[in-house]
Amino acid sequence: MGAQTSMNVGCVSSAGAVSHDTPLLVLPVHEPEEESEAPKAEVLAPEGLSNVLSGAFPVEDLKHKPGESALVYLNEGGGPRRVLLLGAGKASGFDLEATRRFAGHAVRAAESVGVSGLTTYLGSDVSADAVQAATEGAVLAAWRFTEMKSPDQGDAPTDVEDFEVMVDPEDLDTAEAGVQVGGVVGRAANFARTLQSRPGNVATPSHLADEASRMAGEHGLEVTVMGPKELEAERMHALLAVAQGSEEEPRLIVLRHNGGSDDEAPLVLVGKGLTFDAGGISIKPASGMEEMIFDMSGGAAVIGAMQAIGELNVPLNVVGIVPSSENLLSGRAMKPGDIIRSREGKTIEVVNTDAEGRLILADALSYAQGFDPAAIVDCATLTGSVVIALGHHAAAVFGTDEELIGELREAGDRSGERCWPLPLWDDYRRQIDSSVADLANVGGRPGGSITAACFLREFVGECRWAHLDIAGTAYGEGKLSYQRKGASGFPTRLLVDWVRSRAR
Ligand code: BES
Ligand code: MN
Ligand code: ZN
Repeated sequence: MGAQTSMNVGCVSSAGAVSHDTPLLVLPVHEPEEESEAPKAEVLAPEGLSNVLSGAFPVEDLKHKPGESALVYLNEGGGPRRVLLLGAGKASGFDLEATRRFAGHAVRAAESVGVSGLTTYLGSDVSADAVQAATEGAVLAAWRFTEMKSPDQGDAPTDVEDFEVMVDPEDLDTAEAGVQVGGVVGRAANFARTLQSRPGNVATPSHLADEASRMAGEHGLEVTVMGPKELEAERMHALLAVAQGSEEEPRLIVLRHNGGSDDEAPLVLVGKGLTFDAGGISIKPASGMEEMIFDMSGGAAVIGAMQAIGELNVPLNVVGIVPSSENLLSGRAMKPGDIIRSREGKTIEVVNTDAEGRLILADALSYAQGFDPAAIVDCATLTGSVVIALGHHAAAVFGTDEELIGELREAGDRSGERCWPLPLWDDYRRQIDSSVADLANVGGRPGGSITAACFLREFVGECRWAHLDIAGTAYGEGKLSYQRKGASGFPTRLLVDWVRSRAR
């Protein structure tokens, strides 16, 4: 597996910085705040080292924009062999996401220098959150999806396997906590990315269930997996209808972390686990259809988040639910015009078989209500429409509770997985009226993400509920320093942050 899931993370005191043996020490270079008052870039270096470094380079030459860098070689004989002066932008703008991206650039630099480990210093008075963010950035950056490639021919890039944060001695305890959480969250997101990246012929619904079960066994979670018989007994005919065109059986995966008291209402996370979306009889165009292996990204994020919640032993009850199916075409496939009776009892006119995510989520949300949850949050690659609305830099958030929406927005800002609200007004709800059933599964092109969310709301009863449409953010070109082309893990970090915030 290499560095992709097993990066070693830790921290070290800056007291011994001069003699600390590391192949690469990465120091932030901050951009002057105002051109006039402080014309020179500022290097953040631990005490003893600034002496060693002063005179090694002309400060006025230093690059300071995020990602720009200069490499300095120090003499042999113990201590850091190389020092990378890495642009970090303005100190005033060096927030958690800037820190995450800085650590991502540091890992990319280590890869190009060809060293397998690095140490970074983030200044004095460092917060646990900053150290967590840096660790996340490094662990995410080191991930690669290589399991489907034949063994390399010797030209493989260097895996960065060791990441260390250097902090002042009095900050060691704080940093230790941040590194630990960052490692857990980073690995959870990478687990989600690996599941996302596995193609449809590998990551089937039963594969997702097997992986969730294996993970549950390793991290002390309870797991239940339902197949066609149990789904039939639960009257989950919407999930079964989507799956009926496929040879692969559907699954409903339920993961439970019992960190709270027995009588405490759980938080429920629900993720769309559609392992390949061909569109069904309303088939998608061939071009770009291969991307629909990522239609289980919500499910992957829920499984990843549950791993982190278990590892961190969050003192709350949390349930993760993943409805999983393929959406294919065959003589048995669901057809446009079919009317199905959902678990909730509401009948649905299937106008377009490609609007399948909301069907499998309808039954999963109805099932989630049975836990009497304190709140339900679902995430799904639900609509192409959200990509038009918000592009690739934020998910859309919808819900029945303003406070919950506010919590998710804050968790998004902290975790660097942002979401932005859209409305659920009744005027939109009327777009999914049906003349023959209780509701139709599509509401036309205008406001497509909103009508999809209106559809989901029909299946949450009186529960506090929010929905994240992640079709624009779950995978992409990998432009950020800590990302790569393909799976992003979104919103694993957001979900873990939100659940942890509930425990504070
Ligand atoms: N899985 C797709 C949504 C999607 C689109 C995910 C682009 C990732 C990238 C979903 O099942 C779907 O097909 N939605 C349709 C709904 C339409 C038929 C109302 C869509 O968005 O086109
Ligand atoms: Mn679809
Ligand atoms: Zn889909």
